[in-house]
Amino acid sequence: MSEKNERAAWIGGPKMQCATKAANPGRSFRMVLLGAPGVGKGTQAEMLCERLGTCQLSTGDVFRAAKCMDESQLSPAMVHALGYMQRGELVPDDTVIDMVKERIGCLKCQNGFLLDGFPRTASQAGALDQMLASLGLKLDAVLNFELPLEQVVERLGGRRTCQSCKTTFHVVSKPPQVDGICDRCGGTLYTREDDRPESIRVRLQAYEDSTKPLVEYYAKAGTLVSVSADGAPGKVFENCMEELRKRMDV
Ligand code: AP5
Repeated sequence: MSEKNERAAWIGGPKMQCATKAANPGRSFRMVLLGAPGVGKGTQAEMLCERLGTCQLSTGDVFRAAKCMDESQLSPAMVHALGYMQRGELVPDDTVIDMVKERIGCLKCQNGFLLDGFPRTASQAGALDQMLASLGLKLDAVLNFELPLEQVVERLGGRRTCQSCKTTFHVVSKPPQVDGICDRCGGTLYTREDDRPESIRVRLQAYEDSTKPLVEYYAKAGTLVSVSADGAPGKVFENCMEELRKRMDV
């Protein structure tokens, strides 16, 4: 199994082992990625994990992995959660928080962590603070990706995702070599259900109402790092590293 697939299997189940190899032994980073849906958090998470040797936990990936499982294997709360996700609404806080608690091993990981898509509400942010305090840990940084709304909508509308390895492409900015086929594993590319226009509108509203206020929360906590998400992924990654270097040894 490839390292990416091993990681995907691990996020799909709390009892699986973390396959991330420490690229930076002796220094671990604990970060949250914040920003509108489609701003490029997942794309940057992959590059940051590679560079910093951290472990990524994407709550969206966990819910999508659950969607592929047999319904009899899922808790009633998880079945319920999938309906919210399909419509583009936020999954209820209790379900999300329980799911992250089941994966508390990820927060304790000696390689550190990158949380992608969690927290997304004030209540989730409070729960994360409590979990970290109980482990004697602190966040190093909350990277907040900023991009004008019309570009966010463009990125979401053009995204194509591999059914097998979950690699993302974009019809304009990152097209696959062969239309509809994943460059990495040959899998079939599809459009996520929540990337349809009606779900995109709901997701952007949920972001405005519930997640954007967290920018203020983390600014007050002194951990907020604003990053321009404008430009190609490599450029955005350099923006991240430049901002992080101002605050820590990366
Ligand atoms: P989730 O999977 O977290 O979705 P999201 O936050 O909406 O983020 P996306 O994965 O859509 O986008 P992204 O920012 O990672 O962008 P990407 O890198 O793919 O959540 C999905 C759902 O799960 C939620 O709606 C909710 O229902 C539920 N959920 C999850 N967590 C929850 C929580 N904590 N609480 C409640 N509910 C929760 O990039 C997008 C596209 O742009 C790609 O095509 C990519 O190739 C392209 N792209 C990326 N970077 C660039 C660039 N620099 N230039 C040009 N194109 C780019």
